Amino acid sequence: MKNILVIGSTGQIGSELTMKLRHDLPGGVTVAGYIPGSEPKGKLLTSGPAEVANVTNAQQIADIVDKYDIDTIYNLAALLSATAERRPLLAWDIQMNGLLNILEIAREKHVAVFTPSSIGSFGPSTPHDNTPQDTIQRPTSMYGVTKVATELLSDYYYTKYGVDTRSVRFPGLISYTTPPGGGTTDYAVEVFYAAVKGEEFICPIAPGTYMDMMYMPDALQAAVDIMRARPQYLKHRNSFNIAAMSFEPEELFAAIRKRIPSLKVRYQVDPVRQAIADSWPDRMDDICARKEWGWSHSYDLDDMVDDMIRNLRIKFGIEDPLKIKD
Ligand code: SER
Repeated sequence: MKNILVIGSTGQIGSELTMKLRHDLPGGVTVAGYIPGSEPKGKLLTSGPAEVANVTNAQQIADIVDKYDIDTIYNLAALLSATAERRPLLAWDIQMNGLLNILEIAREKHVAVFTPSSIGSFGPSTPHDNTPQDTIQRPTSMYGVTKVATELLSDYYYTKYGVDTRSVRFPGLISYTTPPGGGTTDYAVEVFYAAVKGEEFICPIAPGTYMDMMYMPDALQAAVDIMRARPQYLKHRNSFNIAAMSFEPEELFAAIRKRIPSLKVRYQVDPVRQAIADSWPDRMDDICARKEWGWSHSYDLDDMVDDMIRNLRIKFGIEDPLKIKD
């Protein structure tokens, strides 16, 4: 892994992963791929090359691979679950036709490919508690349908053509840099913005709804580590369960209130997101990732909440009111 193309570099994962790859792998080049309308800005723009890289335009991607002698593609272009329910055909186009473009280029040009899967690849008939690595995957959302197909197609290109495809099933990802947008797990990010700004939070997910979540630094480390793992130890490829924490809304709000007691929440459940959340696992079993490539997480709920609040306060120039009183 030396010369890397990140497709979707201005999105929630891409904006941070591109910077991490540039920092952690300084010997090569990491190209920030973007679509017009979501151009990279600031450090993302100045710290390395950027190219228009629309996943549905195979020629555009192939040209970038040739120009920079790319050996690894992080294919992060996707519509998240709730948006994909509103725009299923667009989700299919980006997630499936886009993936096929990438895999064909990878086959021809010997490029390794990471395309994330998700807790969304599971469905109502999946065991929800300690969801095993290999289990029933019959999702009921378009997002989930594309994620299962992504896993299968990526494995197919590995077994049939030897394309080095690998990936993980991300839980809901929590970060303070780039907001997600259109996901079912987004509430667990948005509540922090409301809490820090002193605004009431309207929660679209019902109390008692457990989902796997992960703090972004752990997710980024997983994305790097899986691509650097020794292939001889990988019994699975697409995709590995990875887990860090599982909570329901009230547990998250209680953890935030320990630091910001004034947090106000009102529930206004969104039936689309709630149905998706109910169909997903409560917590995944990630033993295979831990055994096959040494996955481990660093942040639990309290570490994550501390870090989110600290960084969002810095981002918005807000002092800690409890500290000012001391
Ligand atoms: N965070 C994603 C979503 O909610 C799941 O992978 O759509």
